[in-house]
Amino acid sequence: MSGLRSAMHKGKRAGLEVIETAKPKRKRSKTTVKQEESTAVSSPSSYHTFPDPADVVQLRSQLLSWYDKEQRELPWRTLALTESDLNIRTYAVWVSEIMLQQTQVATVIDYYNKWMKRWPTVQDLAAATLEEVNQMWAGLGYYSRGKRLHEGAHKVVSQMKGQMPRTVDSLLKQLPGVGRYTAAAVGSIALGEVTGAVDGNVIRVLCRLRAIGADCTSPAVTEALWSLANTLVDPERPGDFNQAMMELGARICTPKGALCSQCPVQTHCRSYHKVCVKQEQNSKKLLRKGGRDTSNLPDIEDCINNITCLLCPLEPWDNELGVQNFPRKLAKKPPRVERTLTCVVSRPGEEGEDEYLLIQRPNKGLLAGLWEFPSLLLEEENSEMKQKRSLRDEVSRVLGTHLTENLLQYVGEVVHIFSHIHQTYVVYSVCLKEADTHTQTENTQWLTRSALLEAAVSTGLKKIVKLYDSVDSVNKASKEGKRRKHTDVKKDEKLQSSKKKGLGGAKSGGRQLTLSSFFKTVKEECC
Ligand code: ADE
Repeated sequence: MSGLRSAMHKGKRAGLEVIETAKPKRKRSKTTVKQEESTAVSSPSSYHTFPDPADVVQLRSQLLSWYDKEQRELPWRTLALTESDLNIRTYAVWVSEIMLQQTQVATVIDYYNKWMKRWPTVQDLAAATLEEVNQMWAGLGYYSRGKRLHEGAHKVVSQMKGQMPRTVDSLLKQLPGVGRYTAAAVGSIALGEVTGAVDGNVIRVLCRLRAIGADCTSPAVTEALWSLANTLVDPERPGDFNQAMMELGARICTPKGALCSQCPVQTHCRSYHKVCVKQEQNSKKLLRKGGRDTSNLPDIEDCINNITCLLCPLEPWDNELGVQNFPRKLAKKPPRVERTLTCVVSRPGEEGEDEYLLIQRPNKGLLAGLWEFPSLLLEEENSEMKQKRSLRDEVSRVLGTHLTENLLQYVGEVVHIFSHIHQTYVVYSVCLKEADTHTQTENTQWLTRSALLEAAVSTGLKKIVKLYDSVDSVNKASKEGKRRKHTDVKKDEKLQSSKKKGLGGAKSGGRQLTLSSFFKTVKEECC
């Protein structure tokens, strides 16, 4: 790898110092280097573009024919085709695109159908409360998306006379939570605007089509991908073309195990071509046993600016990876590891059904506005025993009463993985004897089990409830059962016994308890 290329890949400010101290094969003056750098950004070599308009026309036709036959029937696609009211159509596609950000199609379908049934127009959504929106969104993750849709609907109704924006530019400028991709997707699908749309699937398809292997989050690659998408998009059917690209990425040009033999645009794919060339080189090498190894020689059809190109990969081609050489991903930052103490507080309700205490999270940040059990983030420097006391104090504060520490019973652990946090909930429970009246403040509520599961709560909380129930039912089923700890590992919700030993919950009032007596103590002492 030349030092020059590696310096240029580091971004806009690749310093000349680095360039000059490295030893390029050809001697370059400072001005030549600057010229090369700007040329590499503004006009990538034809290896990474579609210079022949005939190829573009052919690719559009191949892709759209495939899409017409193979596309999945999805509710937002049906609405985009059948809804004649432009305002409703734009709203419907906007909702779908927001839901599809970071969430799989299969998960979105049910949420989308329920949402559109409840709030079929932007006016209906604006009339809803944020609490209702959060409730509808519960389980879909990235909760700020629902909030932004709600804010956007308010804005459209209160400041834009109920009219959704009518161009990509105004979608981008007027609607909160709408970025370059979402504006382009809504604009092309709902409004027929001729623009490409580059999401994660499309990044992969384009990087493979044009052998773009540099970091796909770099400004040079981002611009190149948008430029490619804008060149390729079909002016007659921009929405279908963009969705066909997404569909190709989701079903054929998949991250792993791409189905190249079924790809409608295989003939345009530089990565696939490279795989074929390498295979041919390898078989020739085998035939010419002992002959010269040519597999690492530059492919005659490679990018001609390879040394300076900001779109070419830094790493050499890896035969094992095949088309998966593209796109190149930077290593992900590992998730932050957190432990949170949480307490399931129950009391007998008026109808004879237990009720559970919930507190609303702040309106900003992680899980904004959702309801959770009283919780406390564990600080590393304090022992869990010490923090259990703090949890007791927190629960006491919310209840407006003083709880003794032994009322807090250890239940187990639940692991929940957010995109950037590996969260372990260390679960305790408190079972109150009688209804408490001090807790009716604005951000607390007591809910029955069924109401709780319908409320605006996170998937993490539902896992905690599941653990609480499973420990409870084990207790009921086994009179002599031993006290166990349970851990919900990853997202599969399988219960496994926890390795962690010796937490406060192992004892109650200084006594070691069996599982059954533990729950008797909890329920009988307190209720
Ligand atoms: N992902 C984002 N938008 C999509 C769409 N309209 N269809 C399928 N997947 C998508």
